[in-house]
Amino acid sequence: MRIQIINGPNLNLLGVREPTIYGKRTWEDYLKELRARFPKVRIDYFQSNTEGEIIDKIHEVGFDRDGIVLNAGAYTHTSIAILDALKSVSTPTVEVHISNVYQREEFRHHSIISPGCVGFIGGFGLDSYRLAIEALLANASQARTE
Ligand code: DQA
Repeated sequence: MRIQIINGPNLNLLGVREPTIYGKRTWEDYLKELRARFPKVRIDYFQSNTEGEIIDKIHEVGFDRDGIVLNAGAYTHTSIAILDALKSVSTPTVEVHISNVYQREEFRHHSIISPGCVGFIGGFGLDSYRLAIEALLANASQARTE
């Protein structure tokens, strides 16, 4: 299994950025724990603050990974181009959010990218990424038995 995590804008500042919402833990620290938790899964990681680079990465990995875990940050609420990229590839994507976007400002209540994703996990802090990987693994093993 090979899974690609893609983090969008401002998520390079995890641990520093609005810690009351996103926590105090750095991404590097969490990623180590995540990789240790899934020793049989190769977890690749990419972060960009730029919409086009996120789209390029989706194109690059979207035909040969077993899953994409995407936290598109604020592009979630604005980017038709990321939605189109997700719809253009075959790898299933799980949309992830650290915070519960429905408890926050109204402009965060709508995700433009959700129709391009197989599912959505949000509100569980960094653990949302683990839950997304669990969901991709469960889906993949179900697909194998069908
Ligand atoms: C976020 C929620 C978005 O609304 C916000 O713009 C982010 C992070 C989350 O993980 O909770 O940058 O995707």
